[in-house]
Amino acid sequence: MKVLDFGSLNYDYVYNVDHMLLPGETQASTGMETFCGGKGLNQAMALAKAGVPVYLAGSIGEEGQLFLDICKENQVNTELLRQIPGKSGHTIIQIDKNAQNSILLFGGANRSQSREYIDEVLAHFEEGDVILLQNEINELPYICQKAYEKKMTIVLNPSPFDSALDACDMSKVSIFLLNEIEGAQIAGGSKEPEEILALMKEKFPKAQVVLTLGGDGAIYQNNETGEKVAQPCIPVQAVDTTAAGDTFTGYFIAGLLKDMPKADTMRMCAVASAIAVSRKGATASIPSVDEVEAKL
Ligand code: RIB
Repeated sequence: MKVLDFGSLNYDYVYNVDHMLLPGETQASTGMETFCGGKGLNQAMALAKAGVPVYLAGSIGEEGQLFLDICKENQVNTELLRQIPGKSGHTIIQIDKNAQNSILLFGGANRSQSREYIDEVLAHFEEGDVILLQNEINELPYICQKAYEKKMTIVLNPSPFDSALDACDMSKVSIFLLNEIEGAQIAGGSKEPEEILALMKEKFPKAQVVLTLGGDGAIYQNNETGEKVAQPCIPVQAVDTTAAGDTFTGYFIAGLLKDMPKADTMRMCAVASAIAVSRKGATASIPSVDEVEAKL
């Protein structure tokens, strides 16, 4: 069984600010660093650091060598990644004094997936393989459809949530990992976790759902069997929350593939993402499985 993460890679330009910029305001930042990120890359990195072999597919631009280097260092398979003319994706991230972030996204190469390339990538996979998707690349509905036709298990992190997801037939998704804002948008209801979970169950009766709630922890729900696990958040001194959700996602899939009990998986995810928020950067903040086990 193989795992494919078909997603985005971004250079994250991270600025430390007192507060998020207001309309018309100019503010001097107190620090600036560049990191490798993008939800696709972060989640592939989390899977690899959790000990799961993973293929990362997606598109990078002419200045994308650093992505290839970092993947190689962390045993993320890049055979299916492609480098194309033009710019890679990038973000401008503000981190305020409370460690909260806001992200401005430039899609770049992430928005250049062609159907021909997608077909080439998917030709390497078969029934029972897992595909992990987020919403930072174009052609998501096509990828979903083709992966479903191949009977792959589709895992979706519908982030960032926007109208592109409307074209995606989410009934094909086996596992959703989402936060309460995305949950409310998909379920079309309130931000109340129990209501989101009830609506998700109604809409996707066969799916599994992981709802992350920031400081309020996370809840796992298997809509088919009724199994439910609530995991409190592990308190840490937050430095940068970027990629906390991506870390949770990668570690959750790792727990699933290792057939771990859900309560153990959720605790492992909470520890991994707590470590991630206590560090700067996206991929740079994701802990290895040894660091997570040491904390557990
Ligand atoms: O989820 C965090 C990621 O979102 C960042 O690394 C940034 O690139 C954006 O894609």
